[in-house]
Amino acid sequence: MDEKVIAAARAAYPAGRARITLGAVVHDGEIHPDPLVGIPFEMMNRHGLVAGATGTGKTKTLQLMAEQLSRAGVPVFLADVKGDVSGMAAPGAPHPKISERASATGYAWNPEGFPVEFLSLTGKVGAQLRATVSSFGPLLLSKVLGLNDTQTSVLTMVFRYADDRGLLLLDFADLRAVLQYLSGDGADELKEYGGMSRQTVGVLLREMIELEAQGAGAFFGEPEFDLADLMRCAPDGRGIVSMLELRDVQDRPALFSTFMMWMLARLYNTLPEAGDLDKPKLVFFFDEAHLLFNGSSKAFKEQVEQVVRLIRSKGVGVFFVTQSPKDVPADILGQLGNRVQHALRAFTPDDEKALRAAARTFPKTSFYDVQATLQSLGTGEALVTVLDRRGAPTPPFATHMVPPAASMSPLPDAEVARHLAASAQVREYAQAVDRHSAHEMLQARARAAADAAAAALPAQPASSAGGRAPAARAAKEPPGALGKALNSPIARTVAGVVARGIMGALLGTATRRRRR
Ligand SMILES: Nc1ncnc2c1ncn2[C@@H]1O[C@H](COP(=O)(O)OP(=O)(O)OP(=O)(O)O)[C@@H](O)[C@H]1O
Ligand SMILES: [Mg+2]
Repeated sequence: MDEKVIAAARAAYPAGRARITLGAVVHDGEIHPDPLVGIPFEMMNRHGLVAGATGTGKTKTLQLMAEQLSRAGVPVFLADVKGDVSGMAAPGAPHPKISERASATGYAWNPEGFPVEFLSLTGKVGAQLRATVSSFGPLLLSKVLGLNDTQTSVLTMVFRYADDRGLLLLDFADLRAVLQYLSGDGADELKEYGGMSRQTVGVLLREMIELEAQGAGAFFGEPEFDLADLMRCAPDGRGIVSMLELRDVQDRPALFSTFMMWMLARLYNTLPEAGDLDKPKLVFFFDEAHLLFNGSSKAFKEQVEQVVRLIRSKGVGVFFVTQSPKDVPADILGQLGNRVQHALRAFTPDDEKALRAAARTFPKTSFYDVQATLQSLGTGEALVTVLDRRGAPTPPFATHMVPPAASMSPLPDAEVARHLAASAQVREYAQAVDRHSAHEMLQARARAAADAAAAALPAQPASSAGGRAPAARAAKEPPGALGKALNSPIARTVAGVVARGIMGALLGTATRRRRR
């Protein structure tokens, strides 16, 4: 291989510095067997992009970054979109292809399984991930419901209305009750809130009921997932790899990406400023990131852009993984300092345009024809440019990626079951659900007594809250009892929390409690 290429790579990636190893330089069809190319740990909070056509190696790149972060004591959060990352919990099995890749890249391959915690939106394949409706907020909820800009602003107003009235929005039944009230008996109250029509509220209600029918009730409510759980290390010092399992919600792609955005926004709100760290506190991988941005409102994109920009100073790195860089809005793309671009195909004129655009985002190089290289990269190869220690982009090098240390196949079901049974986190969130039910029942009893005393008042029948059992419903205030709600001691104590949390994690200052 041309000595000038190797010398340039050595200059860009000086020896003896801790970094995430990505792979070995490829030039003119030849691999230089030295795993030079990598991302300095302290630059992992400068965010990144892993892109490439289907099957080119994006998820494996994500895996090998996650593995090395964990080994260095950095917790990682990622979504296991296709179920193929769960294997990280088990050591990789020796295979001729692995040995071949290891020797081609000059990499000492040692099989290793990592400390993994599974999370799940249904609670079936991991610890139940849950958010309250109020902390999720109108913007993210609009994204999940597929609302347009006008509908989004109406939903925002509904949240404000609930906040003004001290109506705590915890689960879907709460929101449904408010929407039902505003599109029915309470329509008059809309007058105070310019631009909210009964009809639009009715549309929101229908969208919401549809989402609820698909099981969204499970992940809205209490106890909310504690984001501090993502920041843990195993007793051996390796970072916990928290993995959102998605095989149970394949049909709602907007859902998990929005949930991940909620987590990120929540982290942003809760973490202190960190200054310059020698390694990040947490790295967050958004696989299939196009799902986050497809059809999302301008307001939503702006909020994502803001959170991504600001979370860096809190020591959190964010990596977007997607097929084409054009899946990511330009304002966000501009903040992604580390780029691992796997092969791009150019079948259609649109593809070709995207390819040219992708090529233009790379720093200048005299060693490669960037556009041609992007089309000719093999599986598990990428054109890489990262931020060096001074924060300057390294010249691009075509890179043959090293093999991951953990298994690249999905973890067998029996192994997953064993993990879930052994997980304190899974138990913790399961137990907390029980505790919550008990709490609700106690409140319901207190309320039943109050109702008996107030029997003379022309109160709204409990069925207006959407047919939920009165005992369960009574814990929160049905909108028909607005006056009572405002005067109830429960409503008053929660009002402060509502006021802070009501606009959602993206806009508000979240409060955080540790439960253990
Ligand atoms: N670093 C690597 N080490 C070993 N094998 C790899 C590596 N990268 C890619 N491969 C091989 O390529 C295959 C496809 O990789 P991967 O699943 O990461 O692609 P992808 O870009 O995520 O695909 P999709 O778009 O379908 O999600 C893997 O199953 C593996 O066999
Ligand atoms: Mg993939």
